[in-house]
Amino acid sequence: MKAAVYEGPRTVSVKDVPDARIEHPCDILVRITTTNICGSDLHMYEGRTSFETGRTLGHENLGQVVEVGSAVSKVKVGEYVVLPFNIACGFCKQCEKGLTNYCLTMQPEPALAGAAYGFAEMGPYEGGQAEFLRVPYGDFNALRLGEDAAERQVDYVMLADIFPTGYHATEMADVQPGDQTLVYGAGPVGLMAAYSAILKGAGRVWVADHHPDRLRLAEEMGAIPINIREEDPAEVVKEATLGLGADNGCECVGYQAHDPRGKEDASLTLNGLIDAVRFTGSLGVVGVFLPEDPGGAATQNEMEAHGKVPIDFGTMWFKGQKVGTGQAPVKRYNRALRDLIVSGRAEPSFIVSHELDLSEAPSAYAHFDNRDDGWTKVVLHPDGSS
Ligand SMILES: NC(=O)c1ccc[n+]([C@@H]2O[C@H](COP(=O)([O-])OP(=O)(O)OC[C@H]3O[C@@H](n4cnc5c(N)ncnc54)[C@H](O)[C@@H]3O)[C@@H](O)[C@H]2O)c1
Ligand SMILES: [Zn+2]
Ligand SMILES: [Zn+2]
Repeated sequence: MKAAVYEGPRTVSVKDVPDARIEHPCDILVRITTTNICGSDLHMYEGRTSFETGRTLGHENLGQVVEVGSAVSKVKVGEYVVLPFNIACGFCKQCEKGLTNYCLTMQPEPALAGAAYGFAEMGPYEGGQAEFLRVPYGDFNALRLGEDAAERQVDYVMLADIFPTGYHATEMADVQPGDQTLVYGAGPVGLMAAYSAILKGAGRVWVADHHPDRLRLAEEMGAIPINIREEDPAEVVKEATLGLGADNGCECVGYQAHDPRGKEDASLTLNGLIDAVRFTGSLGVVGVFLPEDPGGAATQNEMEAHGKVPIDFGTMWFKGQKVGTGQAPVKRYNRALRDLIVSGRAEPSFIVSHELDLSEAPSAYAHFDNRDDGWTKVVLHPDGSS
């Protein structure tokens, strides 16, 4: 089968790889019809993780079930399913608590927790930017879609990661109706965090970035854009809130945060939020930060290369702020968010800028990685339907 394979920094090629197949009685095999490129893929694409060459990328996957293992009882051949990027067993101590983002069974390394498709440090699983995907524990992991699945794939595929992840940022930040919320990052995740805050009834939502095309999407959904080229988000927010600051904030950028000229500093957005959020407010940090960054010494400094990010902890402590971090537990939210899509209350596909064939993955990676104007979210269709 064809797949988008990581071949080293800034090199992805579409080539033949061994066919995905059922390997365990609880597996299902999915013919991928829609799969996204994510900002998380870009950390790997740029060589800023331990992701091994030769592996297939892709953790935001939707498709049609073509085969089920002998122990699968719920999911049926022919159904459309969307797969959480987290691969979870459903029966370990973490999964029992709903923490499918830190499953102990699917992560083979005893010192680690959590697994995902085509992802650094998240187990050996191949990604779904391919014609077929093996899904472990299919009954637990697959979210089944209704009759409109085939026509509305670009909405439903956002349930694999960024819609639940954006929502999770607002949950960790404790966004309540009427709240004033600052979101750092107008990439797909930041836009979904702002969208979720608005769905929850936030009173005012600001989104900070330096890409006008992305900020325009934020504005179109009813958020207030802040271009960091022109303004300091913390000053804008404090000025608008009698100096008090936002009620809460979402970090949707990660360790490759940079100034508008491109100079990286992993502490920029965290310190921005500590400054901008009021006393006792909460921060939800879904942007990725890692214990080891292979490119960190060259782009930032030796400390950052080992995940040591200098944040204003004194101010954070003094303000009594709380912070939530980590991968999102997609399963906690995907069913409810699916039903908001079904009912027409949510339409997350508004961020999609490109629908392309799998064969176009190499150039799609290059454009999305450059954050070229208008390349907000790339959706690939390995079934040739684009
Ligand atoms: N926790 C999770 O489960 C989870 C899931 C998906 C993605 N992520 C992570 O979320 C982050 C965002 O993902 P994405 O797909 O939106 O990626 P993206 O790279 O497309 O978007 C990031 C945006 O942040 C902006 N940015 C950079 N520096 C900034 C700064 N100093 N201030 C404001 N904005 C700044 C960029 O211009 C860009 O638009 C990534 O780190 C990704 O790995 C986490
Ligand atoms: Zn993703
Ligand atoms: Zn588990």
